[in-house]
Amino acid sequence: MIITHVSVDGFRNLSGVSVNPSAGFNVISGKNAQGKTNFLEAMWILSGCRSFRGSKERDYLKIGGESMRSEMTVKDSRREQTISYSMSRSSPDVRSIEINGVGYGGTRPLFGVFKCISFTPEDKEIVKGPPEKRRAFMDMGASQLDPSMVMMINRFNAVMSQRNALLKKIMRGQADSSQLDVWDRQTARLGAKLSFMRHAYVSAAGNICSELYGAISGGSENLELSYRSNVFSEGDFENAFGPQACELYYKKLTDSRERDLISGTTSAGAGRDEILVKIDGMSAREYGSQGQIKSTALVMKLAQAQAFMRKCSEPPVIFLDDVMGELDGDRQRSVFEIIRDMQVFVTVPNADAVIPEMKGRLFTAEGGRIYEQNSVSPHRE
Ligand SMILES: Nc1ncnc2c1ncn2[C@@H]1O[C@H](COP(=O)(O)OP(=O)(O)OP(=O)(O)O)[C@@H](O)[C@H]1O
Ligand SMILES: [Mg+2]
Repeated sequence: MIITHVSVDGFRNLSGVSVNPSAGFNVISGKNAQGKTNFLEAMWILSGCRSFRGSKERDYLKIGGESMRSEMTVKDSRREQTISYSMSRSSPDVRSIEINGVGYGGTRPLFGVFKCISFTPEDKEIVKGPPEKRRAFMDMGASQLDPSMVMMINRFNAVMSQRNALLKKIMRGQADSSQLDVWDRQTARLGAKLSFMRHAYVSAAGNICSELYGAISGGSENLELSYRSNVFSEGDFENAFGPQACELYYKKLTDSRERDLISGTTSAGAGRDEILVKIDGMSAREYGSQGQIKSTALVMKLAQAQAFMRKCSEPPVIFLDDVMGELDGDRQRSVFEIIRDMQVFVTVPNADAVIPEMKGRLFTAEGGRIYEQNSVSPHRE
């Protein structure tokens, strides 16, 4: 998949951006606070995913601006499509999404159209942060491979909130604990399925991670990822998913009911899953150096891209925000080998920090404008 054209206006500090990226590497350089990350984010929101930086959508609007629009043309092996996201100050809760001229009220239809993987400095949280970061990582990766996962997760979350609400009601004496069983059955069915899907994803992505980390570290370190289900042991995943798995999950839930009725939340199940990330047998979260943590997070994201490519034989677009400048030449070259056949957008303060192989098309960010180097700067006309 490649982006052939992007135009952005009124998104954060960006105005009048109109660029034709190369199908290979695109390097966006410029001083701090010029709009490099904003430019990546303006493309990213067209993937249908939220929270590139965890900020609210109304913050997309330029301060003092009336409206924003991000539009791009994407091409895959089958067709070319134009997608856009716009919003106005007068009704910031209404996002207007268009796919080939057809309007939609929500971002969900975008999910199937434009596939991308981003890596930002905050992504080291996947390794260093709390378990929910790693759950989000596996759910996002698995959803990209199998869109039915999105619905599964939404249903699981909905059932979990219902269960938790009921727990609180029972604690207040407003409901009877016999009502829990209905929700436990539903939670078990969805949670068990979710666990099996997560297990499959982490097994596949974990193998790729080990391979990639080996390459990046020059073979000197060994990275291992493993899915730690709150319900199932590794052996349970050897059987195919079925009623037996649901029963195990249900038992785990009923065993913890008493505790749950004291805390008012669900203490067992897929909401407590983890991925263990180990470098040479030691927890990366607890013992990893800054560089190891950053490389591990990068590898986990790149593994997402490779898993997607293997499954769909259509590479996603890669956004690398502020990473290349921090990697030495050898590490940059290893990363380059992994993503050389994909369309890539790299941001760096200074383009000289990037190895020559990556310098496909060079852009400069300046005061909210992005322009191709060698073309005339809008400020200097
Ligand atoms: N809603 C908004 N309206 C106007 N300006 C905004 C808005 N949100 C963010 N900005 C500004 O956009 C500017 C550019 O931000 P961006 O993060 O893209 O910079 P950058 O080029 O990636 O810089 P760095 O090299 O430091 O990462 C910042 O000065 C920020 O204050
Ligand atoms: Mg930035």
